[in-house]
Amino acid sequence: MRPQVVFVTSEIYPFSKTGGLGDVLGALPLTLHRMGIRTAVVTPFYGRLGSAEFGVHLAWSDCHVGYPWDPVTADIFQANFHGMPVYFVHRSEYFDRRFYYNDHKGDYFDNAERFIFFSRAVMEFLKRLGPAPAILHAHDWQASLIPVYLNYWRQHDPFWQDTRSVMTIHNLAFQGRFSSRLFQGAALPPQAWSMDGVEFYGDFNFLKGGIACADKVSTVSPSYAKEILTDAFGCGLQGVLRARQHKLHGILNGADYSIWNPSSNRFLPCTYDADHLKGKRNCKLSLIKELDMDPALKNRPILGFIGRLRRQKGVDLLIDILPRLMQQDVGVVVLGEGNLEKEARLHAMMEDYPGRLTTIVGYTEDLAHRIQAGCDIFLMPSTYEPCGLTQMYALRFGTPPVATAVGGLRDTITPWPESGATGFIFNEQTPDAFHAAVTQAISVWKDEPKTWRDMVRRAMQQQFTWERSATEYIDLYRELGMQ
Ligand code: ADP
Ligand code: GLC
Repeated sequence: MRPQVVFVTSEIYPFSKTGGLGDVLGALPLTLHRMGIRTAVVTPFYGRLGSAEFGVHLAWSDCHVGYPWDPVTADIFQANFHGMPVYFVHRSEYFDRRFYYNDHKGDYFDNAERFIFFSRAVMEFLKRLGPAPAILHAHDWQASLIPVYLNYWRQHDPFWQDTRSVMTIHNLAFQGRFSSRLFQGAALPPQAWSMDGVEFYGDFNFLKGGIACADKVSTVSPSYAKEILTDAFGCGLQGVLRARQHKLHGILNGADYSIWNPSSNRFLPCTYDADHLKGKRNCKLSLIKELDMDPALKNRPILGFIGRLRRQKGVDLLIDILPRLMQQDVGVVVLGEGNLEKEARLHAMMEDYPGRLTTIVGYTEDLAHRIQAGCDIFLMPSTYEPCGLTQMYALRFGTPPVATAVGGLRDTITPWPESGATGFIFNEQTPDAFHAAVTQAISVWKDEPKTWRDMVRRAMQQQFTWERSATEYIDLYRELGMQ
């Protein structure tokens, strides 16, 4: 039967993940599927799928990708992900690598070629699978050529005539911007090299092409949808977006509470909920042990940070205020990776505060859960944040966040001292403002235990369900004619 919506993405948890994109694609398509929308997902095969659980098997071999790869084919694997089909495009020289997009030296030199290949393989495979879906929903720059191919191909290929596209931007800073030389390798028609296509100041810009060609563009929070129209947050694409504001929507992500939930969680030493907070205390004691931290911290607040050690996540602000914070007799746990210099800096600082500052460099899914549960306060000083899932998880784990007033952070946290507060927000992106907000959180934790407990309970009761987000996406698909 005709799928109604096909998602095209470079990540889907639990098969692949480098951040929130993987989490979103692991939840949204499945939610739609459970709401009765015929949904499928297509994604690269990175060469290390846990295949046993979801019965990953070869579905099609030698799927032709077409010009300029005429003799080159892709194999398509299929998994049954809780009843929803997920298809994997397999071509080992492109996708079977240690990392997905880059290593410590930088982006892979052939990223344009890899994701042109992926996009063409997706289009050819879907044609073979037939009939065409009502909606092709592309995510981030890696899938941005999907709306571009669709836009030009449906003008003459009856197969694609009734398909419409949605382009979701999870992070405008990553655009897939390449030299104009590579345009030829995409085998797009010459008119795609224009203001209405992929050309951007003389470069080949995948995301710009996706924004220009998609029938609808969405991003992952209402606040970010407004911010990206401004010079400060538009990453150069503000003009392109402003001219297409009529088709731009902000739909807040959800949190997958079947995974990110302290009341049923296989990664935690003990579970808890808003009415039984004793388990949270035990998670804290156990985290102190696991990370070999100072036992005296059981009576002091522990502050947690999880995320890429990049400017976006405000790691510079964190490093700046750490010496001041440590004077306040707190513990700090940092889990992250992504920048050798920052990793080294944080490691060096650990020596100054033995047992009180712990940095774990790496990507460890289960530890992320234990840090969310075992900390008292969560730090998220992002310079921008399209949505942010980590703060939603922190809320559910009863770890009030201290966050910048940007994007999805603004849309998901009710700031102290408003009534109904669930966390702390600071406006000015300066170390002083961040430090003042953290200090405020520490003093409420220390001096007003009842107020703190009420805030923790309220935070845990927040509901950012995927059903709510999915309903908004369905409205969008229906506007595009999905039955
Ligand atoms: P982003 O997508 O910008 O990284 P989000 O807050 O939307 O930010 O999502 C981040 C996701 O990645 C969360 O699931 C978070 O737990 C996870 N994550 C980030 N860094 C790490 C890490 N070093 N180890 C384990 N999980 C991480
Ligand atoms: C991006 C953004 C993050 C968002 C995630 C999922 O990685 O940086 O804010 O939550 O995508 O949409």
